[in-house]
Amino acid sequence: MAGRDRSKGGYHEGSVDTILSVDAVAEEAGKIAETIPVERLEALAGGEAFVSIDALRAGYGRMEILHDFSLRVAKGSSLCLIGPNGAGKSTVLHSIFGFTNIFAGSIRVGGKDVTRLSPSQKLRDAAIAYILQDNSVFPDMSVEENLLMGGFLKRATRQARQSAEKVFEKYPRLAERRKQPARVLSGGERRLLEISRALVMEPDVLLVDEPSIGLEPRFIDMVFEILADLQHRDGKTIIMVEQNAKKGLEFADIGYVLVSGELAKAGPGSELLSDPDVGRLFLGG
Ligand SMILES: Nc1ncnc2c1ncn2[C@@H]1O[C@H](COP(=O)(O)OP(=O)(O)OP(=O)(O)O)[C@@H](O)[C@H]1O
Ligand SMILES: [Mg+2]
Repeated sequence: MAGRDRSKGGYHEGSVDTILSVDAVAEEAGKIAETIPVERLEALAGGEAFVSIDALRAGYGRMEILHDFSLRVAKGSSLCLIGPNGAGKSTVLHSIFGFTNIFAGSIRVGGKDVTRLSPSQKLRDAAIAYILQDNSVFPDMSVEENLLMGGFLKRATRQARQSAEKVFEKYPRLAERRKQPARVLSGGERRLLEISRALVMEPDVLLVDEPSIGLEPRFIDMVFEILADLQHRDGKTIIMVEQNAKKGLEFADIGYVLVSGELAKAGPGSELLSDPDVGRLFLGG
């Protein structure tokens, strides 16, 4: 990921003395790990899970990154993954979307086993979208062309156009700039375009990796408002990773702390926000 200095940790906004190194955070985080039975995850999801991951072992090449990882989230709910750099948070999203090697375990969405589907099958047949982050907008193409790119898997261009129109109706900021090259967009508008591009496929599940990265505070708030709207008004199920643990946990119904490829803590977002260990390690206090 471009533009982030890993040596500085990334969770802290506090004074210099409160900053722990990345390694220290990982080590300390290992100590707070709890064993969490899947029944607890089910209870947290509050009923019927829409996305279920069971005992997943997955990684890249032959290297296993996620060990025995399980997850439950109900339809129209949101879940935020936090944890140290390199814990495997993005790998969870990659695994749901089909970018990793899955050695064992299963992933189900809406009762359907999607463990072995390819990313394009996930998008087209299982209504799962992965929101690309960090400069995935094509600067020389117009806003409209960028948006239509999101519909390349739709069977008819007409369908993609219709859903692009729905996005423009929803977001006048983009509609006003539809014929302009995407390079004129502000950072926040670009992020809006990245999110909107995923919406053209009309997904049920949105996988969002670090929506606030690289944005100034007013744009961060805008992005979280858009995500809240997608969850609460449109009933999308959202699974996100967020370095800004405070924002992520304030937003999400459920929070998971991932450490070294394993689930270390799980609870309602608001509960993790007030957990002293989470505060010390991930909230800079
Ligand atoms: N495409 C890849 N090929 C090989 N190894 C990878 C790949 N992507 C990630 N890894 C490795 O998998 C591990 C977990 O990485 P991941 O990106 O999931 O961590 P993360 O929790 O998202 O970290 P960060 O907070 O830094 O984004 C790391 O050791 C990383 O080096
Ligand atoms: Mg990541």
